[in-house]
Parts: sequence; C-alpha cells; structure tokens
Amino acid sequence: MSSLQSKKILLGITGGIAAYKVNGLVRDLKKRGAEVKVILTPCASDFVTPLTLSTLSGNAVESEFYDAKGNWTNHVEFGLWADLFVIAPCTANTLAKMAGGLCDNLLLATYLSARCTVMVAPAMDLDMYAHPSTRRNLETLASYGNAIIPAEHGELASGLTGQGRMAEPETIVAKIEEQFMRQNPSVLKGKKVLVTAGPTYEAIDPVRFVGNHSSGKMGFAIAEEAAKRGAHVVLISGPSAERLHHPMVELHRVTSAREMHDEVFRHFDTVDLVVMSAAVADYAPKNIAVEKIKKKDDELAIEMVKNPDILGEMGERKKDQFLVGFALETENEIENAKGKLSRKNLDAIVLNSLKDDGAGFGTSTNRIRIISKDELREFDLKSKKAVAADLLDFIEEKLHR
Ligand code: C5P
Repeated sequence: MSSLQSKKILLGITGGIAAYKVNGLVRDLKKRGAEVKVILTPCASDFVTPLTLSTLSGNAVESEFYDAKGNWTNHVEFGLWADLFVIAPCTANTLAKMAGGLCDNLLLATYLSARCTVMVAPAMDLDMYAHPSTRRNLETLASYGNAIIPAEHGELASGLTGQGRMAEPETIVAKIEEQFMRQNPSVLKGKKVLVTAGPTYEAIDPVRFVGNHSSGKMGFAIAEEAAKRGAHVVLISGPSAERLHHPMVELHRVTSAREMHDEVFRHFDTVDLVVMSAAVADYAPKNIAVEKIKKKDDELAIEMVKNPDILGEMGERKKDQFLVGFALETENEIENAKGKLSRKNLDAIVLNSLKDDGAGFGTSTNRIRIISKDELREFDLKSKKAVAADLLDFIEEKLHR
C-alpha cells in the first residue's frame, strides 16, 4: 500500500506554462490511491482545461467563488477536506499574494482557510525566481510552515536557461510521499535493513565466468523503498548496471558468491531485516585457471563445487532478524517455495515465476506471491518499484504484529 492510499490531496494550479505538466501529476497521485480535488486560479484555465482535470481526478474542478446560477463554492470546506494542499505550479503573482494574505480568488481564499500542510512548487523565469521579492516571499511562506519544493535548473519557456522550472511531477510526488511518511512513520524507520541484489559471477579463468541474467533491478528497488521509509539500508550487490538514487543506502559491490557471503556476514549481526533478492550462483568452478584457458579439445569439462548457501546460514544463525528470501521456480512452485521457507528458517519467501510474461530477470516488471508461515498473498504484475512497496508493506504488517 502506498503512503498516499486514501489521502485527500487538494491541488491548486495557477496560470503558468508549467501547468501543462500537472495532468500527469494528477494521474500519478490517483494511481497511488490518493483522492484528488483541483482548484484553479482564473488564469490557470488558459493553460489546462477543467474538463481534462475533472476527468483525471474524478472530481469537479472549481475556480470561482460562485457559479453561473449564483451557487457559492465553499472554500472553507476545501481547506478542511484536504490532508495536504499542493500548489503547483505557483506563479510569482500567487506567491506574492499568499505571502501578503491577499484573497482575490478561490485558490487564495482556500489557502488562507486550509488547516493542513501546504506545499508550494514555484515556477517562473530565472530572473523572476532570483528577484529579491520572490526570495523574500518564499522565505515568508516557509516561515508560515509551508513546504517549498524548489524550482529546478534547466530550459525555460522564455528560451533562457536557469533556475525557475517547476520541479518534475515525479519529484513532487516523492516530496508528497515523504511528507505523509513523516506524518505516519513507517515501522522500518530507524531500522537497519540488509538487501542483496543482482547475480554473482564465478570466475573460470581471468576473463571468463559463470553467471546468470539477474539485473539487480528488484534488489535496488527494495533498498531504495526501505530507505524512503526511513531505514538505514546496506545493499550488497553482485555485478549490476543499476544506479542508486537514495543517500541512505550504503552500497557494497561484490562479484562472487563467496565475496557476497563474507560481506553479508560483516553486517548480519547488527541488522533487523534481511531481504535476500540476489540470484546467487549455486556452484562455482573448483579451480580458477591462472591463465586464460586455451582453445584445444572439442570438449571442455569444468568441475564445479557448491557455493555456501548464504541465506541458509543466516537461517541457522538468526536471532531476532526477520529473514526474507526469493525463489524462482519452474515447477511445483508453491510446494518448493514452502519447502525453502521452512528449510532455510525464513519468515517469508517471495515467489516469482518465469512463466509469467513481464516477470523475472531483466524486465522492469514483476509478479510475485509472498508466502509466510500463515499466509499466501498474490499480487498483480507491477513495476519493480511498486512490487518493492508491496513487499515492504507485507513485511511491515508482520513486524507490526
Ligand atoms: O535454494 P535457492 O537457491 O532456490 O534459494 C533462493 C534464495 O536463497 C534466494 O533468496 C537467494 O538469494 C538465496 N541463496 C543464497 N545462497 C546461495 C543460493 C541462494 O543465499 N548459494
């Protein structure tokens, strides 16, 4: 469940060119389960249509104090309804009026009557953004307790380049999520979480290895989602092209299963939760040739020996850690996954199937089933980021109990 599930978000749109991006913002917020209502300043409808916004939000869009029949729009009710009021884009004009307490349209009247947190995403040309009056107005709003989502640097509608572009919709969504998480702290806040990701490469000679197609996407998504929820995350990854975006994730890169084993056990005693999503090679060549193996005979046999079962060893050594494994099965999926759950002394196992289109290695989506001692929960095909959120919601539920 997203932190935005059932949250009531009032979106105020003012008359700036960045308003065209807000349709996507409404859709993203709705996708995450939020209820969205939109109010516009009179100029905003030059840039976006009320019809598009009412269709996307599923609610009537308001911009006047009263309609053609003389029915009054109750701005106080808007202010009381909202869990969060986001004004994006916020023009220099609206910003100045908010700072000064002016109230000549519905959006401003709602701002003055809102009791919830207000977030403001300014957007304007670079010189307007840098002007001392704008700087002072932003400081004034911050002093009222409003959260400012700073404008970004880049190309502007004027053709100039500089700071003034409205933050991208995904940045605004992330800030909104952070805001709600601060209000309802996650069970993972302050916890230490160990996540493994990617494949392992088992060397044959100095230039060759035995590996698999794991991309690391799933593990990286889990690590970042845990960090977003306030956990301190140690991510141990085999070779992967994935990059980290969250400063609270401490990344250790390893190559082989042996190295992953040693790195994992440097941290294991101090962590609260382990999610072992790495596709660890079960076997490694018995001997690594010192020189590159030359092409000679028609056949080449490489003797392999079993790698340590890292998760199995964690199961044996565990004290209070909550242990989650991954299973990729091609037959008797549930039965085999349940076997692993008990054999490795796990608290939960995530089953992903190679049979589902769009699930498994390399893709950006996955379809999982999570099995714990008392439950089997099925999920739809989703982005790996959304899967990571589902998995951590499940874990949080269990830890809460
Ligand atoms: O037994 P199987 O390899 O299918 O179990 C998969 C789970 O065990 C995954 O969570 C994987 O990360 C972990 N594993 C491990 N060490 C191995 C092999 C798998 O920790 N050598």
